[in-house]
Amino acid sequence: MKTKDVMKQSRRGFLRATGAVAASLALGGLPLAARAAGSANAGMKIGIIGSGRIGGTVGGLWVKAGHEVMFSSLDLEHDKALAASLGPNARAGTPREAAAFGEVLLISVPYGALPQVGRDLADLIKGKVVLDTCNPVPARDGEMAVEAKAKGTGVASPQYLPGARLVRAFNSVGYSRLQSEAHRAGERIAIPLAADDAASLKIATRLVQDAGFEPVVVGPLARAKEFDAGTPVYGNALTASELRKGLGIGS
Ligand SMILES: NC(=O)c1ccc[n+]([C@@H]2O[C@H](COP(=O)([O-])OP(=O)(O)OC[C@H]3O[C@@H](n4cnc5c(N)ncnc54)[C@H](OP(=O)(O)O)[C@@H]3O)[C@@H](O)[C@H]2O)c1
Repeated sequence: MKTKDVMKQSRRGFLRATGAVAASLALGGLPLAARAAGSANAGMKIGIIGSGRIGGTVGGLWVKAGHEVMFSSLDLEHDKALAASLGPNARAGTPREAAAFGEVLLISVPYGALPQVGRDLADLIKGKVVLDTCNPVPARDGEMAVEAKAKGTGVASPQYLPGARLVRAFNSVGYSRLQSEAHRAGERIAIPLAADDAASLKIATRLVQDAGFEPVVVGPLARAKEFDAGTPVYGNALTASELRKGLGIGS
């Protein structure tokens, strides 16, 4: 093939690729960022990888908020039953189907499963906003969890999920409190967030609000360590002012 033809081909490929990206970011008629900014009736398509206590709870709250959610785990029958209990905005699929379906993904698996999940979904998570709830627990996850705890999850998780626009979220409040405190009256329970990318943080912020909580942006991923398991703020259902005080950050 002549050089000119090769360039024409690769330009066509580029245009096809950018068209696909634009289309995927504009599902539902409005770009994802515009929907995250709070446009009316602006549901997002969300894929849940790991539909256990946290993934099932948070995904269910998003369904109730009007988002379209696909649940996945290692047990499709469980996910079908969960989706059926939540109504027409919920569906079930394999982890790869959920990763393809979601404009935004929530990964909520045991930390020890993250390397495998990252490999299985590598091509699908690239460039996507991924909310990561996973906490390293050495007794459950082994040696890799010891390393992740030492590095901090905001540094460790991206190594397992390369290319994802990662946001640490929903990792510090127990699932039963998420169930009981969502949308509560008065001051809401805070969910700390950390990410390196402003657009991803905006989307995560909106999704925390839609789930019925108050987002508190702590900083870049390196600061996720401040609300990892074992920190003073971890495991407590704190209001935003209590969380900010605990972290020593201004309002
Ligand atoms: N429990 C809490 O209150 C809490 C709070 C904050 C953060 N976290 C963290 O969030 C994560 C999830 O916690 P959880 O309590 O929700 O756990 P869980 O109830 O045990 O749920 C884990 C989910 O991950 C799925 N899974 C496991 N390996 C997978 C793989 N390779 N691919 C796809 N899905 C896979 C499981 O599917 P199967 O059931 O089919 O095996 C299950 O749906 C953990 O890292 C945990 O430390 C938990």
